[in-house]
Amino acid sequence: MIIDADTGIDDALAILYAVKSPLIQLEAIGTCFGNIGVEQATDNTLRLLKLAGAEGVVPVYAGADKAIAREFPGAKSDVHGENGIGGAVLPPSSQQAEAEHAADYYARVANERPGELTLVLTGRMTNLALALQKDPGIASKFKSVVVMGGAVLVPGNITPAAEANFWGDPEAAQVLFAAGLPLTVVGLDVTLQTLLTRADLDRLERQGGEEGFPVARFLQDCFGIYFDFYGRVNDFQDSCPLHDPLAVIAAVRPELVTSRTLLASIACGDPLTAGMIVTDRRVKPSVGHPVAFALEVDAPAVVEELFSVF
Ligand code: BDR
Ligand code: CA
Repeated sequence: MIIDADTGIDDALAILYAVKSPLIQLEAIGTCFGNIGVEQATDNTLRLLKLAGAEGVVPVYAGADKAIAREFPGAKSDVHGENGIGGAVLPPSSQQAEAEHAADYYARVANERPGELTLVLTGRMTNLALALQKDPGIASKFKSVVVMGGAVLVPGNITPAAEANFWGDPEAAQVLFAAGLPLTVVGLDVTLQTLLTRADLDRLERQGGEEGFPVARFLQDCFGIYFDFYGRVNDFQDSCPLHDPLAVIAAVRPELVTSRTLLASIACGDPLTAGMIVTDRRVKPSVGHPVAFALEVDAPAVVEELFSVF
């Protein structure tokens, strides 16, 4: 698996899970602007790998600092904090990011290892879109591509119509939809039902023992602001959605979500609808590209899977 992340709070938990899961061989992490700028996302990723005991083991490729056709409006620090990981302080890593751009790496590795790689994107889809623009033939060379983002039957989160990862680079999302990738979209339809609670993290800190303590402590420091945000904005009670971890888990435990393939396109024009997924659910659909959307989830089983690795 390769993860492409805008390493914020829930991306961090997704990466920790991937490093620790026996179901996953984590080949590399690409980084992208989104929750924060790409430099901060890269630095967070390197520090996280050190925390997870994988410093120097998993290469990190820095990617796009802005959308393919738009400027980056800047991070919204009320969601993920100024440093993207809720103000948690992690020691610096001695590992450096690779020299190659994430998009170039994706194009190269897909050609070198056709049919082998699962790519999970937990931020804007910019890096993969750039890779597809450079070499459209790589679309058939991934084993699967799983994207966290979008909202099909439920409202958006950053606008009434759009989820943040699709809103942040709608043109990139449209490139992915049109590319013919083996694509599954894990969006708000399922992530808003799959919750992490403060009690889960308290339990982890109590039960993790001495070895697990640094990770459990980090998660406590990181998620405080996220619980507060979801309490304020979504009326959640001491809990938050497991957006990005669910995408990683769905990639290796696909039976935990139920997906439906629909013809779909991305609205890229009007600011009111930019990043909205338009699915053709008419009796005889004809508009858009076939994409699998996760629409139901076994949330308790996902939470159990997540905590099985810590
Ligand atoms: C997505 O946006 C980011 O805030 C999260 O990391 C997640 O990838 C949820 O809309
Ligand atoms: Ca993310």
